[in-house]
Amino acid sequence: MRDLNNKFYVTTPIYYPSGKFHIGTAYTTVLADSIKRYHKLKGEDTYMLTGTDEHGQKIQEVAQKNGETPKEYVDKMAAAAKELWTKMDIKYDDFIQTTEIRHEKIVQKIFDRFMEQGDIYKGEYEGWYCVPCETYFTETQLVDGKCPDCGREVKLMKEESYFFNMKKYTDRLLKYYDEHPEFVKPDYRKNEMINNFIKPGLEDLCVTRTSFDWGIKVLKDPKHVIYVWLDALTNYITALGYLSDDYTLFKKYWPADLQIVGKDIARFHLIYWPIFLMALDLPLPKTILVHNWIMMKDGKMSKSKGNVIYPETLIERYGLDATRYFLLREMPVSQDGLFTPEAFIERYNFDLCNDLSNLLNRTVSMVNKYFEGNVPKYNGHPNEVDKQFEEFTIGQIDKFEEKLNEYEIANALQEIWNLISRTNKYIDETMPWALAKEDENKEKLESCMYHLIENLRKIAILIKPFMNDTAENIFRQIGIKENALKTWNNIKDYNKLENIKVIEKGEPIFMRLNVEEEVEYLKNIMKK
Ligand code: MSP
Repeated sequence: MRDLNNKFYVTTPIYYPSGKFHIGTAYTTVLADSIKRYHKLKGEDTYMLTGTDEHGQKIQEVAQKNGETPKEYVDKMAAAAKELWTKMDIKYDDFIQTTEIRHEKIVQKIFDRFMEQGDIYKGEYEGWYCVPCETYFTETQLVDGKCPDCGREVKLMKEESYFFNMKKYTDRLLKYYDEHPEFVKPDYRKNEMINNFIKPGLEDLCVTRTSFDWGIKVLKDPKHVIYVWLDALTNYITALGYLSDDYTLFKKYWPADLQIVGKDIARFHLIYWPIFLMALDLPLPKTILVHNWIMMKDGKMSKSKGNVIYPETLIERYGLDATRYFLLREMPVSQDGLFTPEAFIERYNFDLCNDLSNLLNRTVSMVNKYFEGNVPKYNGHPNEVDKQFEEFTIGQIDKFEEKLNEYEIANALQEIWNLISRTNKYIDETMPWALAKEDENKEKLESCMYHLIENLRKIAILIKPFMNDTAENIFRQIGIKENALKTWNNIKDYNKLENIKVIEKGEPIFMRLNVEEEVEYLKNIMKK
């Protein structure tokens, strides 16, 4: 029997390669990478999939404008995406392009199987089509006669099409929602699906197009190409080799443990995707996590509004870890996150510089000053103050885990920062500079230094999935070299450090920024 609890398969949506990725688009992938790293830290066998969604009319049009073939265009864009993920230290295990043969062949097989089973039938479609969103809408779904998703013009189109019989599976889907409370997170997204789409009556889904040809052809009726969402959604299984000659990855990793999607594509992942899987008789992913959007003060990021911010801009000036931290920290569970230059610089100065960097700096300099850099041993009998501090710390680790297991990442980070604040407060409470004055307080001073170093080790382990370099920098400065002391296994232990020496002169990991200058800098960059 394979051990389902010891593997973790996480996916991001596959991106439309239609332009440069801004911090909003990068968010999903940073989130997936961080959660994957957390599971890896816990010793699980992890696998992360990302990629690009390369078919459809819109891509065909953009490529044409660029004077390239669609394939030349998408390959160039996929390479750019990979380059960005490398810059952001995203450790994906596979990158799928939907124009790869390994994907196209299987999508055709899946389509044929749906036809044979009677899930797909031929009919005629008429509706309002939004080209950029590649979606048909009914008259009632339009908002002021425009696309309800992007607000752009729609055109009335009619075409011979194949349809997927969604109605057949509606009851099964509702039952599944009911019996698997962990399937959709956060929970309110499920109610949105039920109230907005399922209760009003789920329409059968049109799954082919004849109006353009940049897509996967229906083998038995090649004037039809397969609708981009049926094509795209199946990437999560074709990448694992489903219906191919090699089932190794599929057997090992399917069903996915976590599929992360933005709120705009929740409908496709919470309704159509589970139904396709049911029709294939495959188990459903354990959890689909729907996140909100990163917005700007004046709404969505857009070039024309002059309010776009790219990850590269932030990384070049403030470093990767500050960028990742901000994105993950500013996204509430129940509403959109906001990017403002002021908020970014404030988080940098308060959370990273005042709280974290100063804690490390103070501690390293005190261990040098009082013990020539040698971290005292754990004495095995903590006094009341130290005991309370230990209990608080372990409680915070539990809270962090609870939040993380619910995929409430901003809240999980908040729990780490509560621990950082408490550790700073512990210094103020124990007043090591006063203890150092009296010889009789030597044991207290030793215990205080031990606890500070031990807590910094725990903090570094906790932040490692989100800010790998910063965590490694902390380990280096407090003298932790052994990998065994950097893992989750002994994060709650208090007696693991022996013969540890901190570096002679601490180095600040984050330096205070000039608020006015940096806000000005970011505002100017956003206008360009
Ligand atoms: N190609 C589809 C996904 C198919 S998955 C089978 C798609 N691509 S996308 O490039 O438009 O979006 C990719 C992801 O970026 C989506 O999860 C989307 O929600 C997310 N985001 C786009 N803008 C965003 C923000 N401003 N903030 C957070 N996430 C954002 O949809």
